[in-house]
Amino acid sequence: MTCVATSYALFVLRGIWMLRCPERLQLRWVRTLPHVVDTVLLGSAVAMALMIRQYPFVAGWLTAKLLALLLYIVLGSIALKRGRTRKQRIAAWFVAQAVFFYIVAVALTRNPLPWTAP
Ligand code: HEM
Repeated sequence: MTCVATSYALFVLRGIWMLRCPERLQLRWVRTLPHVVDTVLLGSAVAMALMIRQYPFVAGWLTAKLLALLLYIVLGSIALKRGRTRKQRIAAWFVAQAVFFYIVAVALTRNPLPWTAP
């Protein structure tokens, strides 16, 4: 849960810096800390999947989480790096956050369509 909150906070912060003071994105800790947190987050996800013996491409909700995570990574990279215009990067930043909350909703409900009844 700490990794989830830190990962989200660092992504939002880097988005704000991307818009207001992009030079801060080049600071050493800003370049490395998110990778450390995200690696620990993914490591705990794999450990928890092993503990409860449910796996992506077997359990629907974990398939949804993994695919959404890939989408989140692509959108995050467009937002912070690859987006060609400011408009593109801002749009990707917002959609990435929506995807992040979708992942959290799937985690809490264990339902790939968290807005429907299980
Ligand atoms: C940005 C990425 C992710 C976020 C924000 C996230 C978020 C969460 C949250 C908030 C929980 C706690 C749910 C609860 O309290 O019941 C959780 C649990 C869990 N997550 Fe993730 N998760 C992410 C990625 C993944 C991935 C990629 C996998 C594996 C494919 C995964 C597997 C699991 C498992 C197995 C649990 C334990 C569920 C349980 O035992 O109740 N997570 N995740």
